Amino acid sequence: MTGFLARLAAPLLLALEPEQAHRASIRALQLLPQGPAPQDDPRLAVAAFGIAFPNPIGMAAGFDKNAEVPDALLRSGFGFTEVGTLTPLPQAGNPRPRVFRLTQDIALVNRLGFNNDGHAAALARLAARKRASGIVGVNVGANKDSADRAGDYVRGIYAFAAHASYFTINVSSPNTPGLRDLQHGAALDDLLARVLDARDAQAQRRPMLLKIAPDLTLDEIDAIVAIARARKVDGMIVSNTTVSRPAGLHATAQAKEAGGLSGSPLFGLSTQVLAQVFLRVERQFPLVGVGGIASAADAISKLEAGASLLQLYSALVFRGPGLIGQIKQGLVRELTRRSMSSLDALTGSNAAGWAKDRSV
Ligand code: FNR
Repeated sequence: MTGFLARLAAPLLLALEPEQAHRASIRALQLLPQGPAPQDDPRLAVAAFGIAFPNPIGMAAGFDKNAEVPDALLRSGFGFTEVGTLTPLPQAGNPRPRVFRLTQDIALVNRLGFNNDGHAAALARLAARKRASGIVGVNVGANKDSADRAGDYVRGIYAFAAHASYFTINVSSPNTPGLRDLQHGAALDDLLARVLDARDAQAQRRPMLLKIAPDLTLDEIDAIVAIARARKVDGMIVSNTTVSRPAGLHATAQAKEAGGLSGSPLFGLSTQVLAQVFLRVERQFPLVGVGGIASAADAISKLEAGASLLQLYSALVFRGPGLIGQIKQGLVRELTRRSMSSLDALTGSNAAGWAKDRSV
């Protein structure tokens, strides 16, 4: 989308009901002519899980659930995009309304409940991509009524192995009852064993990332990281939306809606959990930092807390796609200011500070 159209679109979209605005954004990305992806400053390149990312800013899961616009998102300036969450069977999700804007807070509450077209439809779209270049992760989950939830994740690995740049095992959506129980103990260990076995049975060895919730105690974080390290996942994504409601929210009516909160009010909690995970991972694998990024300063803080890569979603709803370029420019300015040739040295440089700070 051109800069002019992008600036025009954000306020127009905010006048629509959230899910209608989302559909309109997908349509616009499908229809509007787009040039080639902008060339990124080489200092923004990141190597992680055996993949060379042109820049560290990714589209988080949940925007392009059905793999309708991965290439348009990559051309908008993202270094990578993540489709899904995809479940084996198509699923309608929860009754509407189920997405709420907290405009003053730059935040959303959603209880979509894995509405998606299912594996087959998304697979057909990914297989039909003309230019299969660009990094497209596939985020997999389980159908609400599945008798074998771990089996649903395994089916995702088999279905998308030929088309996923990496996989995300999403055990952290708050909107499928019981799903987050898969984050703990034997259930997590069994799940990771099964998906990694499925991955190892494929011709291509796809990186396997685990996406966790921000609503975890330190004991739970200890246990999850221990299992992730023992099973040798390739990375973790921290974090999904929160079921908590941090103090100071302005849009109190919307904040009372059931569902996961994302956007700026999630920033402090998700960045703290990111740092706590980073300190326990001891650089055994890289982390993707997500939750409340709305500026270059936020992106830099996430890197300093322990992220090698970043993702965002909610702030784009309020700020429009121009935000991607602004964040990248801010990162380049920071690298110049610190005379650094890559973002690597920022990763984890203030993990200890972020791990203990509960005030933000
Ligand atoms: C999400 N998110 C999400 N995550 C996931 O793993 N699978 C999914 O299907 C979805 N769906 C989804 C829908 C909507 C409307 C939102 C706002 C979010 C979570 C998302 O990927 C991200 O982890 C959080 O939103 C935190 O990042 P932001 O939005 O604060 O930048």
